[in-house]
Amino acid sequence: MAETAYATSRSDHRTANGSREKRHLMTAAPVSELDGSRFRSVLGHFATGVVAITAIDPETGKPTGMAANSFTSVSLEPALVAFCVAHTSTTWPLLRAADRLCINMLSEPQIAVCKQLAVKGGDKFAGVDWSQSPAGTPVLTGALAWLECSIEAEHLAGDHVIIVARVHSLDIHDEGEPLVFYQGRYGRFDG
Ligand SMILES: Cc1cc2nc3c(=O)[nH]c(=O)nc-3n(C[C@H](O)[C@H](O)[C@H](O)COP(=O)(O)O)c2cc1C
Repeated sequence: MAETAYATSRSDHRTANGSREKRHLMTAAPVSELDGSRFRSVLGHFATGVVAITAIDPETGKPTGMAANSFTSVSLEPALVAFCVAHTSTTWPLLRAADRLCINMLSEPQIAVCKQLAVKGGDKFAGVDWSQSPAGTPVLTGALAWLECSIEAEHLAGDHVIIVARVHSLDIHDEGEPLVFYQGRYGRFDG
């Protein structure tokens, strides 16, 4: 099958007021030529919030968690949310083994907690304050809101698995501005 040509030469585009403007030369790569860094760089132009997915590890009885920016809401009836987990995650199997997970929406002052949860290995909760959701999952102090969930479905998707989670209870928690993640950097919402 012939390769689709994505590269476009400089061309005229009509603007909203009818005048013509020159657009930049775009050299979009065909998917077959995508390398990881270009994929990450382009996708990094989508700003997201960050959540901490936490649970009590049933093996140890201790809290654990990981940071994720792939979180999204899915359905109201039933109440479903979703996030994606890399197959390489060493924390996900521990979270997955728990009956309930907590999805914590992180605030801007929680950058340090976010970074700590993103480190592979070690005690993810060292020095981290938390309280319990109704079913006992870890709600991080400083989180803007939390959702207590169970795993509803898992869909394999390349090097990740898409987790669809059912929401059992949820609440707004501490006040503050959200932690924003954009182009590999952290920022704050100034709306
Ligand atoms: C801002 C941010 C967003 C992240 N989003 C995800 C994500 O959506 N899915 C994922 O699998 N890992 C994500 N990670 C990586 C995990 O937090 C963690 O670093 C990774 O799972 C390795 O740690 P582990 O082996 O303890 O799981 C993200 C990390 C950061 C800092």
